[in-house]
Amino acid sequence: MKTAVIGSGAWGTALALALRDNGHETALWSYTEQESSVLRERGENPMLPGVALGPGVALTTDLDCVKGCGAVVLATPSFAVRGTARQLRGRIDPGTPVILVSKGIEKDSCLLLHQVVAEELGGRNPVVVLSGPSHAEEVGRGVPTAVVVACEDREAALLAQDLFMSRRFRIYTSPDIVGVEIGAALKNVIALCAGCCDGMGCGDNTKAALMTRGLTEIARLGVALGARKETFAGLAGVGDLIVTCTSMHSRNRRAGILIGQGKTAREAMDELGGAVVEGYYAAASAKQMADRAGVEMPITAGAYEVLYAGGDPRQVLERLMARERRDELEAEESWI
Ligand SMILES: NC(=O)c1ccc[n+]([C@@H]2O[C@H](COP(=O)([O-])OP(=O)(O)OC[C@H]3O[C@@H](n4cnc5c(N)ncnc54)[C@H](O)[C@@H]3O)[C@@H](O)[C@H]2O)c1
Repeated sequence: MKTAVIGSGAWGTALALALRDNGHETALWSYTEQESSVLRERGENPMLPGVALGPGVALTTDLDCVKGCGAVVLATPSFAVRGTARQLRGRIDPGTPVILVSKGIEKDSCLLLHQVVAEELGGRNPVVVLSGPSHAEEVGRGVPTAVVVACEDREAALLAQDLFMSRRFRIYTSPDIVGVEIGAALKNVIALCAGCCDGMGCGDNTKAALMTRGLTEIARLGVALGARKETFAGLAGVGDLIVTCTSMHSRNRRAGILIGQGKTAREAMDELGGAVVEGYYAAASAKQMADRAGVEMPITAGAYEVLYAGGDPRQVLERLMARERRDELEAEESWI
């Protein structure tokens, strides 16, 4: 099938290679000429050292590459999703599924990214969200990986499954696009906090508690927004949370470590060379969404305080530990 991947960062590149390896005709679109030339000249993406591009991936900066495609993968950072989707309108054939792999929530509007894409494309294209525990560095090297593709339109989800499924890349389908997107976007906030714990020298116990209670509050918000609770026990929930909170591949965790060691959020992101730290943006949106929905998210609120209001992570942790005593299942009974 003719396919195009829009966004040649680490993730877009790894997915373009997965499509090419499955025998699809694949174009990889870069945001800048310079980025495209680097890929062409080096034969690899500097974000994926040691992963050769090889033949069969057409490098381009022309968005018309989406014309005539059977599926288009959208892999820009979350802040660029709306602008890029707007430019795709009029180019992409009506009915062609868009497989969205960016993770985040739109700033201010608090829309989920699949809603942003659907809005910009005028609802003429099914939008599938692909998510799960999947570092680009590992998918690029063919490390066995499993993810989920979610869409209310089952045909579109099955097409996405078919496109990517291989012996190295196992794809599950799901109808719960809201749950999958909420899990994908908000685990980055918890990964920042997990990194912060590491940077402050806390132990495994602290991090495990943070991940568990972090997932609980993500699920609480998700369910309030119409997601299915089981999704948070799946690949896009606990699966992605584990991988992001425990790996040095995660920029969110790495940024958190620096903040835990005393850097400001800005200094930490600069030290990561300007690579996108989605959790920083997601923390603001998550806080806004939680406030609007009247859902309690104490860890996310603490992350917001540290990232945006100069809060001291040690004091935030102390406050979280000193919250009123609770039953573990108490607040969750209303889910059922
Ligand atoms: N890296 C991973 O392992 C991974 C895995 C799953 C999901 N994701 C998600 O995929 C998305 C992309 O991540 P990445 O790791 O490939 O990022 P990256 O930092 O490697 O690359 C970002 C890319 O976006 C391009 N870009 C920058 N500004 C743009 C703009 N205004 N319009 C269009 N493109 C622009 C850059 O040129 C660059 O190619 C993120 O939302 C991320 O959360 C990443």
